[in-house]
Amino acid sequence: MLNWYELPTANNAVVNRFLKMLCNRSSLKDVCMDIIYLIGGANTGLVNKTVLPFIIQYTPSSMSTKQVWHYGQVVETGEFKKYDYGKKTNLKRYNSTKPPFYDFSKVKAPMGIFYGDSDPFATPRMAEEFVKVVPNLVLNYQVPIRGFNHLDFLLAHNIKELVYDKICELFSNYTS
Ligand SMILES: *[C@@H]1O[C@H](CO)[C@@H](O)[C@H](O)[C@H]1NC(C)=O
Ligand SMILES: *[C@@H]1O[C@H](CO)[C@@H](O)[C@H](O)[C@H]1NC(C)=O
Repeated sequence: MLNWYELPTANNAVVNRFLKMLCNRSSLKDVCMDIIYLIGGANTGLVNKTVLPFIIQYTPSSMSTKQVWHYGQVVETGEFKKYDYGKKTNLKRYNSTKPPFYDFSKVKAPMGIFYGDSDPFATPRMAEEFVKVVPNLVLNYQVPIRGFNHLDFLLAHNIKELVYDKICELFSNYTS
């Protein structure tokens, strides 16, 4: 309706300037953290506040509006299906008025999953559901920190030890 195809939309620059102003003032650093964590879950205190002004130069990054809609459809229906375009277009694209389920039997690659207990976008319950359907799961890893959230995967000061080393270790099992 609004012709927004990217979120946050064109005034990303305004959002960015606002965050920069907030995060550069030492007295407001906690407010700045709260705003950043508002979108990412609870604040675990794993992010080094000194590096905030650097971090916010790249936050928030934008995403496709269609991606957000699709995520909403999955959450609302509780079904992991392809994008719902509406009956008419679905029929054209999928030969069915409803979008089809993803076919997990086609996933051949070995897969490891990593998740935190406080990531609102990928909860332990979602991981549990995923584990049931994905055929070739080789690692199921919940980060062992209470309150670990969406942004900690990028911003936690000890993320290398917590997650990235494990990813590299996993990859090294599959190099020839
Ligand atoms: C936070 O980052 C700054 C700048 O890199 C560094 O000097 C400081 O030691 C770090 N603090 C902690 C608690 O890691
Ligand atoms: C479309 O679906 C109908 C009914 O399920 C089926 O008979 C037909 O073969 C399908 N057509 C294509 C192109 O897949």
